[in-house]
Amino acid sequence: MSKVIQAVRGMNDLLPEDVVHWRRVEAVARDVLHAYGYRELRLPVVERTELFARSIGSHTDIVEKEMYSFEDRNGERLTLRPEGTAGCVRAGIENGLLYNQVQRWWYAGPMFRHERPQKGRYRQFHQIGVEAYGMTGPDVDAELILLSARFWKALGLTGLRLELNTLGTPESRSRYRDRLVDYLRQRMDALDEDSRRRLDVNPLRVLDSKNPEMQELIRAAPSLLDDLDDASRVHFEGLTSLLDRAGVGYVINPRLVRGLDYYTRTVFEWLTDRLGAQSAVCAGGRYDGLVELLGGKPTQAVGFAIGLERLVELLRQDVPATADDTPHVCVIPVASERAGDALLLAERLRDRGLRVECQYAGSLKSGLKRADKIGARYAVLLEGGDAAAVKDLRGDEGQRTMTPGAVADYLAPLLLTGRQ
Ligand code: HAM
Repeated sequence: MSKVIQAVRGMNDLLPEDVVHWRRVEAVARDVLHAYGYRELRLPVVERTELFARSIGSHTDIVEKEMYSFEDRNGERLTLRPEGTAGCVRAGIENGLLYNQVQRWWYAGPMFRHERPQKGRYRQFHQIGVEAYGMTGPDVDAELILLSARFWKALGLTGLRLELNTLGTPESRSRYRDRLVDYLRQRMDALDEDSRRRLDVNPLRVLDSKNPEMQELIRAAPSLLDDLDDASRVHFEGLTSLLDRAGVGYVINPRLVRGLDYYTRTVFEWLTDRLGAQSAVCAGGRYDGLVELLGGKPTQAVGFAIGLERLVELLRQDVPATADDTPHVCVIPVASERAGDALLLAERLRDRGLRVECQYAGSLKSGLKRADKIGARYAVLLEGGDAAAVKDLRGDEGQRTMTPGAVADYLAPLLLTGRQ
């Protein structure tokens, strides 16, 4: 026997039982997003490598170590998208949809990062991303946070905590960067290898270290909030006051720096304690400089993305999902010569809008067992002769015998009026 070929490490199959949860999340997300006027766009999974290097930053973990990049047959450097924001901006500029316009967009789909797989961290994972363009004030930052909070509520998800920070302007961040580098250089002995490397190329990321031995040093590090420019301070105060008025709780975390370089001012994350090390379920912020960096006219921008694997894992712990793909009816030809009749009867039932699974072989016993397993509400038994027996598998209607032609008229009203 030849060797079984397995899936690529960190890339998961979603089986029908999983998809039930995913579809619920996607349906609720769509309703919430549309309630705020966000419109869906669908973008390529592959982009030019340079798009991500320029947007996310060439000294970030994502670009340095995690991208799936390759040369195609024409020798072009391409990358499987590690996130959606860069592609969104690229598409907005290319289609002339950003300059002097307000846009509210969302997208959903797979992203790819060559990280070390563990629970909640995969190499192919899925995001729902939300991006807003052309709005300057903190109102839209607050809108996005309220949208996400409404989404958790609609899903029945509790216990997420919101952390906020502001990274200021590139100028205030560079002042802070100098101060932080001074502080860290004086403590070189206490830095782990990763942080020493980051010190030269991306010192703010030292604050993001998860190494327990570094936490004391990180806690005592200078705070970015002390170097903040006035306009960014006013923006941040505007946001927190809107969240206060809307009754959304948050914690200001001055060490929240994010792993992508394009952020300015507001950054935020929704976190959970229930997924081990992978605590961020949703993350984002403002990126006012990115459109210009990618060759467009200066355009304000803010957005976030939700990690769907993490969200579904939390929901699976809390909220039962009911399948919307369960067949209403299972048609069982108890007499084997009636398999063809079963096929045609099932077609008549589908004409009336019912979900029907048809069996073509097996005994009455195995047929009923199967009908029970798939969760059907009724079984239709075709025995010898021309009769059909309609058996209620979940309620108290028992079994009724009728002509096959009468089955659809009998079942359709019962099943399509909310009694399923
Ligand atoms: P991010 O923080 O890199 O931001 O990813 C957002 C979310 O995607 C994370 O909070 C997490 O839930 C999920 N995620 C990231 N990597 C993985 C992984 N390897 N396995 C499973 N889930 C993962 C962004 O991607 C930005 N584009 C967000 C954004 C949109 N900012 C502005 N607009």
